[in-house]
Amino acid sequence: MAPIIRVEGLTKQYKLYERKPGLWGSVSTLFSRRHRIVRAVDNISFNVAPGARVAYLGPNGAGKSTTIKILAGIVTPTSGRCEVAGVVPYRERVRNAANIGVVFGQRSQLWWDLPVADSFAILRRIYAISPAVYDKNMRLFRELLDIDQLAAVPVRKLSLGQRMRVEIAASFLHDPRVVFLDEPTIGLDAILKQAIRTLIRRMNEEVGTTIVLTSHDMDDVSEICDDLILIDKSRVVYQGTVAALNSMEQRRSVLFDYRPAPAAAEALARLAQHFPAIDAVTPQAQGRARIDFRRDALDLPALIAHLFREFDIVDFYSLAPDLEEIIRGVYQAGMPNQRAA
Ligand SMILES: Nc1ncnc2c1ncn2[C@@H]1O[C@H](COP(=O)(O)OP(=O)(O)OP(=O)(O)O)[C@@H](O)[C@H]1O
Ligand SMILES: [Mg+2]
Repeated sequence: MAPIIRVEGLTKQYKLYERKPGLWGSVSTLFSRRHRIVRAVDNISFNVAPGARVAYLGPNGAGKSTTIKILAGIVTPTSGRCEVAGVVPYRERVRNAANIGVVFGQRSQLWWDLPVADSFAILRRIYAISPAVYDKNMRLFRELLDIDQLAAVPVRKLSLGQRMRVEIAASFLHDPRVVFLDEPTIGLDAILKQAIRTLIRRMNEEVGTTIVLTSHDMDDVSEICDDLILIDKSRVVYQGTVAALNSMEQRRSVLFDYRPAPAAAEALARLAQHFPAIDAVTPQAQGRARIDFRRDALDLPALIAHLFREFDIVDFYSLAPDLEEIIRGVYQAGMPNQRAA
């Protein structure tokens, strides 16, 4: 299927004028105009398939929000090309707006002084939303986000969590083909985060909405997205599935609980000698230990058999690879399959 988002060599530079401190500084810049260039987005290319749920991730300052602003038609790129649902966003802002929804966790897209119900009425008109679509979506927002009680309240009086419920509902209200969510769960409690993740998935499954999400909360990523685009220093370092990244990672961990016994400490200390693929054995609480190992080099059944011989095992847990740890590894040491052993 043809991509719904195409990004090719996208670059955004900002000129920052240097300014000496104090009054004299602000006067002298009128003459000297010394500036430096900040590359917020540097030659980034990727495609997104229709109906995909993609996490667009990178460290602070990597250029995620700037990319989303370009795709939403808010910012014009310095060079490169992009297209969202066949529209060049910064050339045809209005046509683009009909195809997309945008949520910025850090700032509001709504009319600050208007009651929530009025904002929705305006959106309904702007996007010419049919009664069937409006009612269907409002039913879902009521069920998952409980927004009815907020109808009469001006947006500026809403709490952060209340405002985010409304922002997210507003972004999906017209069944857009793509929704960009830039840190949609930042600062929210666990229950609301869950409701928002469920809503995003439901809209994706029921309407086919393509989702592009940025978040520093890896639970958002694992619960919402199948695909990842990882950028670092404004460049794409990985594009593929979450599953493929997980399986590249050879570091794995198990936890086990055992009945404390005099010989246990020594048995723990000997583990790494028996199994050279073990990187670390870490006693946790009393009667619990963690083993970190390299999956490709370890005979896991042999390790488990060994543990059952040496310890009075009470419980045993295999820890799923931790996405946050894997991604931190990518930023610090490169892709897992390209590192020196
Ligand atoms: N309007 C602007 N003027 C000058 N520099 C900017 C502007 N907007 C962004 N930048 C710079 O571009 C870089 C990328 O910023 P951006 O907000 O896109 O990062 P981000 O990946 O969203 O980071 P975060 O995870 O912290 O939200 C940063 O160095 C930032 O300071
Ligand atoms: Mg950002």
